[in-house]
Amino acid sequence: MKVLVVGQGGREHALVWKLAQSPLVTQVFCAPGNAGTAGDGVNVDISATNVEGLVKFAKAESIGLTVIGPEATLVAGAADAFEKEGLLVFGPTRTAAELEGSKVFAKDVMRQSAIPTAASQTFGSAEAAEAYIADREETRLVVKADGLAAGKGVSVCANKAEALEAVRRIMRMHEFGDAGKRIVVEEHLDGEEVSILAITDGSTIVPLETSQDHKAAFDEDRGPNTGGMGAYSPAPLITPEMMDQIIAQILVPSIDAMKKRNRPFKGVLYAGLMMTHQGPKVLEFNVRFGDPEAQPLLMRLKTDLAQVLLSVAEGRLSELPSLVWDPRPSVCVVMAAAGYPGEYEKGAMIRGLEEASRVPNVKVFHAGTTLRGQQVVTNGGRVLGVTALGDNIGDAKLRAYQAVKCIRWDGAWCRHDISDKARRHPT
Ligand code: AMP
Ligand code: GLY
Repeated sequence: MKVLVVGQGGREHALVWKLAQSPLVTQVFCAPGNAGTAGDGVNVDISATNVEGLVKFAKAESIGLTVIGPEATLVAGAADAFEKEGLLVFGPTRTAAELEGSKVFAKDVMRQSAIPTAASQTFGSAEAAEAYIADREETRLVVKADGLAAGKGVSVCANKAEALEAVRRIMRMHEFGDAGKRIVVEEHLDGEEVSILAITDGSTIVPLETSQDHKAAFDEDRGPNTGGMGAYSPAPLITPEMMDQIIAQILVPSIDAMKKRNRPFKGVLYAGLMMTHQGPKVLEFNVRFGDPEAQPLLMRLKTDLAQVLLSVAEGRLSELPSLVWDPRPSVCVVMAAAGYPGEYEKGAMIRGLEEASRVPNVKVFHAGTTLRGQQVVTNGGRVLGVTALGDNIGDAKLRAYQAVKCIRWDGAWCRHDISDKARRHPT
């Protein structure tokens, strides 16, 4: 079977790498891919937003399964377009993808199904939002643009003045265009964040191992928010009892709610949770694998990924045997370009990739890279996800950073404390 992976980040490289190992798979294409996916698969020059082009390619090449990485492609209705042509696809349809595509919709689902989440209000005008914020006691608030905003639509505000400024930027300056036509203003939650990913065919739900992202740019969670500077799996904070609670209170009711609303959800449901004193609460839903969470997770998955994703696409996930995981933990360290998450330059020559990949139990996943002739150069803010398995989390961290040390380009940087949080919760 030929497989097509859509996207060009670290998540997609991990998917290509893992799918290429499947005995069911003869060839893995990636559209448009990066320098890493060109090594583990075959890149196709079609952008991830060109749905028509992707479907045409899948038909021409008799692709047996298409796996869609990015949320924007899903929210644009790519899965619907594939299904309409009778092509098997892994990822939710347009209306199901609204769980990520509209924070107002997600909040509505959670409210109706009593899924634990931050208390919130939705507003369709700046005046109403401003009046609401002005009326409140001085407090920390979180202001969120309704639609997709490339991970930048959420403002965590220390006080009312900051919240009012966020409303002004989103609703008066239209910083995120139509994505900011409506906003959600919610209470600030305290605690530690974890990512719970589950695959589902709309009826059966199979949770994946736990993982934890590091969203802040700098060590000790300081600095601006990013797409994720590193991740590890498992997250020892989540005990088996806690996982049962998350399944019962969050995963099952959300998948049920989507079925009842006639938007059956097929693909990966990613619940971003805050572990509060009152238990786990949902910060956001994503409708695809996390990036960088996919890298450490897929490094640990022993089951044939093509078999797993096919059983979802065909709606027979209940027949799939239990997933098998490598018990060893994994750590992914993101290496970024100077300036990220702000402005950054592209085209810097990357050296030391060969040497890094020789560190035992390490895989260097590419994210923002491209090929200039034979030379790998930077092509994005998050450039590489250096991922390692270890006998324990400390060992995995050591190996990942040992590989990071081998890699050089002008301005390369990373956080130095990825996975240290895990060691605050000894198992
Ligand atoms: P989201 O895209 O909704 O996950 O928001 C991005 C990030 O903002 C989250 O990963 C959290 O770090 C933070 N965040 C979102 N909502 C809240 C909240 N209610 N309380 C505290 N932090 C939040
Ligand atoms: N790691 C966060 C995300 O994929 O959105």
